[in-house]
Amino acid sequence: PLTDDALLALPKAELHLHIEGTLEPGLAFELAAHNGVTLPYASVEELAARYDFDDLQSFLDLYYATMAVLLTRADFAELTRRYLRRAHAQGVRHAELFFDPQAHTARGVAFDDVVDGIGDALDEAEREFGMTGSLILCFLRDQPVASAEEALTAGLKRTDRIVGVGLDSAEVGYPPSLFEGVYARARAAGLHAVAHAGEEGPPEYVREALDLLHAERIDHGIRSIEDPELVARLAQERIPLTVCPLSNVRLQATPDLRDHPLLRLDAAGVRVTVNSDDPAYFGGYAGQNFTAVRDALGLTEDQARRFARTSIEASFASTERKAALL
Ligand code: HPA
Ligand code: ZN
Repeated sequence: PLTDDALLALPKAELHLHIEGTLEPGLAFELAAHNGVTLPYASVEELAARYDFDDLQSFLDLYYATMAVLLTRADFAELTRRYLRRAHAQGVRHAELFFDPQAHTARGVAFDDVVDGIGDALDEAEREFGMTGSLILCFLRDQPVASAEEALTAGLKRTDRIVGVGLDSAEVGYPPSLFEGVYARARAAGLHAVAHAGEEGPPEYVREALDLLHAERIDHGIRSIEDPELVARLAQERIPLTVCPLSNVRLQATPDLRDHPLLRLDAAGVRVTVNSDDPAYFGGYAGQNFTAVRDALGLTEDQARRFARTSIEASFASTERKAALL
């Protein structure tokens, strides 16, 4: 029987998690008070009541507005500390954290304060409960390419923490092809490459992410299901998808969790993983995404174990670390 406890106990890696998307309303107000920042919401309850989204953009508007409270290295450390504790309690043993440096440097926050704050919490979690993690620098695809180039230049000085690059923010109208040069430079420097594609954007964006960015994993990728040839290619090339079921429902990328393509992709031989995206906004951390899928789609124990195992195999953890977790 697939109990909540059994799903939480499965050792798993979180491969699709925006650290800024772990900012819970309570912490947002604490940091606002501490930093003298005024949020445009009167209370925790009023902010939480806004978590009712029509699409990706309506979420992003709130996501960027709320992160104004994150100013110092200590703020990023506290945000990450709280996330890592919750994730660990839901079976996450390794976490690859997306972060959006352009959204912080544009507000006057130093790039290194973001990396060092998150890094402080990662070090603490490793010491205290043996959890491992690293950072993936995401480029904001709705910002100019020159801004992404600047973020990469800063990131290349921090490969002590940063293991890869990603692509996020508003997808439609901002195809992966725009970032071919930035990704080429990142890969030449030895960074891994992943990209959001096929969340709201068409299957063609998934193809571009593979062909032009040489993405090793596709974040979301759910619209691939509309293109059988692409599904066959993902399976054939063993490209993992980092799927985020609760996010897809909240942002109305899928009308209902019962229609979610996760199990159809799995049945077609695609390597799928279950992740939380922006858990403070979408109603659940890693384990809760598993329990929601079980309730809506009737996940079997075999599927749950396979998805958790795939998350570890598809991670960028060291060979030794993967072996220890498998
Ligand atoms: N999609 C695109 N960009 C994002 C997301 C997402 O789900 N979360 C944070 N930035
Ligand atoms: Zn995402």
